[in-house]
Amino acid sequence: MAAPTSSILKSSLPPAPLERTIRIAVDADVYGLRQAVRVFSAGLGFARIPQGELVIAASELASNILKYAGQGEITLRRVVDPTGRIGIEIAAHDQGPPILDFAAALRDGWSEGGPIDPMALLRRRGIGAGLGAVARFSDRLYHEPNDRSGKSIVAQRFIYRRSSLLPKARRYGG
Ligand SMILES: Nc1ncnc2c1ncn2[C@@H]1O[C@H](COP(=O)(O)OP(=O)(O)OP(=O)(O)O)[C@@H](O)[C@H]1O
Ligand SMILES: [Mg+2]
Repeated sequence: MAAPTSSILKSSLPPAPLERTIRIAVDADVYGLRQAVRVFSAGLGFARIPQGELVIAASELASNILKYAGQGEITLRRVVDPTGRIGIEIAAHDQGPPILDFAAALRDGWSEGGPIDPMALLRRRGIGAGLGAVARFSDRLYHEPNDRSGKSIVAQRFIYRRSSLLPKARRYGG
């Protein structure tokens, strides 16, 4: 007897990858990265809007690699949190100068050295809001400071099930 259509479709789909690394060395690599994040996050089950937010977060991390380190790489990984939720990890790695104060670097309008002088904003390449955007589009964002292999900035975001977005009273039927 012929296999049901759904199982034929399932078996012909390639398995979703668990990890993918994209080298970032020239502007054009950011375009490839954007496409890779879209496909990878869709494969994990992220909806369209979070996919777009993840693309922005990854682009900001990649543009920082180009701006501050010249080159590096971004690794996309499937992750699972302790409650079993599936998510994506976007890990940006480079061998450029260290970030001495990561908390300061996360603040909009700040560089790692402190608030950006409004007059300097006109001359500098950026308003200091890239990492802030990455933080807003992530559930978890951390920095692994420089060691011999360089440093990493790691963002994780998980897929929320519909029920977790409902108010408590409705979620538990009360
Ligand atoms: N990969 C990196 N290597 C070294 N320093 C970094 C790196 N990424 C960020 N920083 C530091 O963190 C600061 C904040 O980064 P952020 O991306 O928020 O702002 P920006 O790059 O200055 O401006 P924008 O992203 O708005 O164009 C930077 O000014 C820089 O000092
Ligand atoms: Mg930036």
